Amino acid sequence: MLWGVLSDIHSNLEALEAAVDRLASQGAEGWLCCGDIVGYGAEPNPVLDRLRGLKNIQAVRGNHDLAVLGRMDIAWFNEAARAAVEYTQSTITAENLAWLKELPPRVDAPTFTLVHGSPRNPAEEYLVTVQQFHDNCSYFKTSPCFVGHSHLPMAFLMSEPVSYVDHGPLTPGQVIPIPEHTRIVINPGSVGQPRDHEPRASCGLYDDGARTFTLNRVKYDVDAVQKKIRSAGLPEFLALRLAYGQ
Ligand SMILES: [Fe+2]
Ligand SMILES: [Fe+2]
Repeated sequence: MLWGVLSDIHSNLEALEAAVDRLASQGAEGWLCCGDIVGYGAEPNPVLDRLRGLKNIQAVRGNHDLAVLGRMDIAWFNEAARAAVEYTQSTITAENLAWLKELPPRVDAPTFTLVHGSPRNPAEEYLVTVQQFHDNCSYFKTSPCFVGHSHLPMAFLMSEPVSYVDHGPLTPGQVIPIPEHTRIVINPGSVGQPRDHEPRASCGLYDDGARTFTLNRVKYDVDAVQKKIRSAGLPEFLALRLAYGQ
């Protein structure tokens, strides 16, 4: 089966539509979402409505989703992130809030694991180093383990029995083979707020039969999203950063 892999959509409808269109055109029949569906952007309800309408969707919650639910202390969020959480709380529908509330912290499926930050600390850990990858390997059983949270498209692969780690940032079109009997962590990057100095939406296609993951970058209408952020009264920084992929 082909899965579209999405993470860190952050209430950016244009980016979500572009990513879904691209992955559907490549044959995606199911969808995996690593959380942070809301926060930062101006359109939490249209994004949640679209996501909930996708066939065969499996999703986990992220720290921004938890913050909107009042289940995470936002004292350590920066000012812009806090403003977006408050905006989302004031606009989200009861139905969408109820759906968010039901999201689990992790999904352990036969052909993948799904979390937001890391398998050992799904809500908070940014898994970005080889040491963290090593430390997290005993916390998941099925590979690939898809993570989000850092907004950086990356993969870590442990080959056995000779144990060495191959890792690095992913480039558009790059195909990652997922051999049997390996531990592999993949971050598809962020759909709605990329931070690797590349403004295009980041997402991926996972083929659980061929056991490959392919990274995609998709252009979307950044100007339109910036206008919506400004007219929602959200901080200017949240609009500006989208143009730079930061
Ligand atoms: Fe995020
Ligand atoms: Fe996050």
